[in-house]
Amino acid sequence: MHATITLLPGDGIGPEVVAEGAKVLRAVATRWNHHFELREALLGGCAIDQLGTSLPDETVRLCASADAVLLGAVGGPRWDDPQAPDRPERGLLGIRKALGLFANLRPVQVYPAIVDASPLRPELLQGVDLIVVRELTGGIYFGEKRREACDGQERASDLCVYTTHEIERIVRVACELARGRRGKLTSVDKANVLETSRLWRRVATRVVREEYPDLQLEHMLVDAAAMHLLRRPADFDVIVTENMFGDILSDETSMLAGSMGLLPSASLGEARAGGGTRLGLYEPIHGSAPDIAGRGIANPLATILSVALLLRHSLGLEAEARAVEAAVQRVLAAGQVTPDIAPPGARPLTTAEVGDAVVAALHP
Ligand code: IPM
Ligand code: MG
Repeated sequence: MHATITLLPGDGIGPEVVAEGAKVLRAVATRWNHHFELREALLGGCAIDQLGTSLPDETVRLCASADAVLLGAVGGPRWDDPQAPDRPERGLLGIRKALGLFANLRPVQVYPAIVDASPLRPELLQGVDLIVVRELTGGIYFGEKRREACDGQERASDLCVYTTHEIERIVRVACELARGRRGKLTSVDKANVLETSRLWRRVATRVVREEYPDLQLEHMLVDAAAMHLLRRPADFDVIVTENMFGDILSDETSMLAGSMGLLPSASLGEARAGGGTRLGLYEPIHGSAPDIAGRGIANPLATILSVALLLRHSLGLEAEARAVEAAVQRVLAAGQVTPDIAPPGARPLTTAEVGDAVVAALHP
């Protein structure tokens, strides 16, 4: 097949890990006879430095016209001034919104080879295989923000808004995923306090009852979910939740896998007319890690696993996606890993060496 993929290396370790993702994409193209056209664009701090804006119009254009987007990470201390008119994170939120990427998938798997990397006891991690489906373009992230003077004080507010339509479409994405998995859906909210959560719960209940009666749906308050994710993580299958709860819970679930350096994510829009595939933006869930940037020690596996999600969800190449995931498993089992997850005594590999190892382990 022919596909156009836009690369957004971003800041910090972003360019290093995206280089390995691109290496794997090129290897997949060669082995399966595809033609992937890779093109680069600026997003985040590097875009502020070079073009004076975190989200250049040209970047939006190159992403919107692509079949898929692979992103590294944005941000860093250089752009952290709270008074600055623009910030790298604004570019990230802006591209999600501009492309209509409302569904953020964050799968968490525990790889037996590195079970010791997790701070949790290994027996708790047995059988953990869950996915967080986070609503990505609504809620408190995008509601009206205000700062005003009030009785000699400063007052700030962030409005949390959800519509029926926004809830329905994200619940449907989660339901479709649950059907292909263990059939269990946990909808997380704070319905004992928040009006948006009460609407969320009612809509989720209706969508499952009317359209997915074969699924098992449970509702869980977000504070309880934070606790149960540590107490009995293997019980979860698909978790669906609003934007900010999903942000927080997905960092928590990343610790089940042991390293932020292993977790991929997919941000998807509506299905494209006529096909089962969607425009998607794929990125590791870790940040730009400025403290280790440029040293060749960043773990590229989260980005490479994001490439697998890209192949699956935006290009419809399931066999290729599985082959990349299997190659990552082999590399992990062989201990060919960066220092963050290297077993004691083993010689850790560099970022580029791990990428090469994945390419070598890739079999059609
Ligand atoms: C994430 C990040 C972003 C978010 C930040 C960088 C704006 O934490 O993708 O989870 O909060 O969505
Ligand atoms: Mg986050």
